[in-house]
Amino acid sequence: RLRTAILISGRGSNMDALLAAARAPDFPAEIALVLSNRPDAPGLAKAKAAGVAVAAVDHKIYAGREEFERSLQLVLETYRIDFICLAGFMRLFTPWFIGQWSGRMLNIHPALLPSYRGLHTHERALADGVKIHGCTVHFVVPEMDEGPIVAQAAVPVLDDDTPDTLGARVLAQEHVIYPLALRLVASGKVRVAGNRVLGAPGESTDALVA
Ligand code: GAR
Repeated sequence: RLRTAILISGRGSNMDALLAAARAPDFPAEIALVLSNRPDAPGLAKAKAAGVAVAAVDHKIYAGREEFERSLQLVLETYRIDFICLAGFMRLFTPWFIGQWSGRMLNIHPALLPSYRGLHTHERALADGVKIHGCTVHFVVPEMDEGPIVAQAAVPVLDDDTPDTLGARVLAQEHVIYPLALRLVASGKVRVAGNRVLGAPGESTDALVA
């Protein structure tokens, strides 16, 4: 099983979904570490209570991004991590760190990329009046919120939605597609062709749109 680290900064509900999925004996990844840049992240306490190895590397005590990332890298190597899932990890990485994990790092983003990169995606979707919104799991590349898309789920935008109600509808789908995407990637059932993630011969990625 692929030794996977989940990197979080906050509450960790996607982390919970990944931990739950990885408890299945046939799941191709094991969550060997939950790592946060915030020692007080609520998700870290939850993971610890669940018996998962946890670590914190507080970005505030480092002089710069490189020093912070070197420390992260050391922790990841100590735990012999092969794969990373970013799950609400709110720090941007340098090209150096991303290069270390090229093809081995997924992120979940609360919008249908390439629409609404960055923050406040639900507010912006409502302000634009779009009727469909959603979430995306993608491989991480140096450009923020870009990279080959593994899975997406779409949800309707309703007339009486607020950012919170829309965000909750999206989040429920995040919890579905992140485990699906990790299962596909960790089992080697997809290949990356340019910017596209395709099913391995005999496999299909079609079913991933919820
Ligand atoms: C999720 O909605 C995730 O998509 C988003 O942060 C939330 C984390 O929630 N990620 C980003 O915005 C990344 N730029 P969680 O801690 O409950 O999983």
